Amino acid sequence: MSAPYILGIESSCDETSAAVVRGGEELISNVVASQIATHKPYGGVVPELASREHLRNIVPVVRQALAEAGQTYESIDALAVTRGPGLAGALLVGVSYAKALAFALQKPLIAVNHIEGHIHAVLLEQRRAGNNNLQFPVLALVVSGGHTHLYLADRIGDGWKYQNIGHTRDDAAGEAFDKVAKLLGLGYPGGPIVDALAKHGNPAAVKFGLVQIKHRDRNDRGLPTGDQRYDFSYSGIKTAVLRFTETHKLSDSIETRRRALLDIAKPTVDDYLRLCDRTTLDLVASFQRAMVDDLVTKTLTAARDGDVATLLVTGGVAANSELRSSFEREAAKNGIVAHFPSRVLSTDNAAMIAAAAYPKWLTRDFADEHLSAEANLPLR
Ligand code: KG4
Ligand code: ZN
Repeated sequence: MSAPYILGIESSCDETSAAVVRGGEELISNVVASQIATHKPYGGVVPELASREHLRNIVPVVRQALAEAGQTYESIDALAVTRGPGLAGALLVGVSYAKALAFALQKPLIAVNHIEGHIHAVLLEQRRAGNNNLQFPVLALVVSGGHTHLYLADRIGDGWKYQNIGHTRDDAAGEAFDKVAKLLGLGYPGGPIVDALAKHGNPAAVKFGLVQIKHRDRNDRGLPTGDQRYDFSYSGIKTAVLRFTETHKLSDSIETRRRALLDIAKPTVDDYLRLCDRTTLDLVASFQRAMVDDLVTKTLTAARDGDVATLLVTGGVAANSELRSSFEREAAKNGIVAHFPSRVLSTDNAAMIAAAAYPKWLTRDFADEHLSAEANLPLR
């Protein structure tokens, strides 16, 4: 049988997306309706507004993805939808719509874990580039606004299985970027702004001590005793940045910057630079360096301990330029191959959902009419 055309639908957070991917590797269309403009005035995602925007966008986004792919509702072979984790109301829009569409079209529906989607964003692009020879063991770092997870990923026949060996105990890495940007009056989402500004500051100016986690997580009861965990914690660094702004009396300049940026519809890097003094730029660069060093050090420790051959780094924060170059350098030093998604497929999109659905198509792992959204869906 020829490779199936799978229509993917993603609505777990603040992007409504639909995509058509053939056979897990041929990306035919990928439409993303971002809600950044809606949430920007609030400095973060407002769940109720996210659900409303998904409701408004889902039908036109799906239609556009099909049209751009030269496909129709009738011509696709299966539908795939993000079941979780994510915002309950946001997920519900995608799941309800996909269920109704699959029922009406009498086509199989495949439920996909959003985190697995991020991992398959990398695999999709590797296959597209002709790299079908992934070396195992594979370690995946999924690092986004909602997640900081380490998984050992393995193939079982045509399917995949995952073992979580680390996660954040509090804030996700992307959340730390967003919160620090917000408290410095830099707006939302913080990651891309911090990434751009960090290049203009001294990363050694401010020293941040990141948390070394030694005790077991009380949520890890399922883990066999003796198994090493590689956990992260990013709420402390946000507090340290706040303390720094207090001791260096930055609050007035932060407020001036915040107000000035509100008046600029689409601020450029030059606008931000004009509104940031040296101390702030050094603080931003030092914060990013501390985040990158912590993510890279912990991930590579896990990779060495597990004799990992391939490292996948994915999720919104994988778009960070310093994170990429640092991972590339350190992985190479350790004889490990590191792969990232392109920047477009780093942040939330439906192509990764359609790609992750393909192995489930092969194993006939289809959802039934009882499928529901699960805000805390674990990945196994
Ligand atoms: O994967 P994603 O789109 O959504 C979630 O599943 O959370 O990730 C969004 C996160 C935000 O926290 C955003 O600030 C962060 O990814 N991000 C970045 C960069 N681009 C996006 N963080 C650091 N550097 C970037 N260049
Ligand atoms: Zn995501």
